[in-house]
Amino acid sequence: MDHKTLKMNVNGQPIEIKIDPRLRLIDVLRDKLQLTGTKEGCGEGECGACTVIMEGEIVNSCLVMALQCQNKSIITIEGVGARDNLHPLQESFMKNGAVQCGYCTPGMILAAKALLDKNPMPNRDEIKTAISGNLCRCTGYSNIVNAIEQVVKAGDANEL
Ligand code: FES
Ligand code: FES
Repeated sequence: MDHKTLKMNVNGQPIEIKIDPRLRLIDVLRDKLQLTGTKEGCGEGECGACTVIMEGEIVNSCLVMALQCQNKSIITIEGVGARDNLHPLQESFMKNGAVQCGYCTPGMILAAKALLDKNPMPNRDEIKTAISGNLCRCTGYSNIVNAIEQVVKAGDANEL
């Protein structure tokens, strides 16, 4: 199959690559750009492990064809904080025991970030709704909601 040129902005960096048009966004992120923080769970839009932010909205990158991202801006977990400068959500997840195996965590953080970018003062129900597409098999969710709520209460969301 003829390769096509894909141009997009990933974590603030302009990207231009030739790809097989059958690739999904998650394939390009993980296999072409080595951004392996984005996880694949179900591969069919059910688990949210592959969540990234596209043009300010969360998407399941397993359901988005890479060429649908032409000239779009994408944020992955690699674009949120850094190892020596964690994002307030990442700090709060750590402090609140919201990470166990960690497989769901990148998607959870991005779903929370997308919420707080739009609404820095969500209530607990709004937080639950925002992460309702993200499954976690380990934590029972309470600590995740607590972690996000703590960022909201600390006012850190205004600095995200
Ligand atoms: Fe995409 Fe599960 S891997 S929703
Ligand atoms: Fe293991 Fe959420 S921490 S799936």
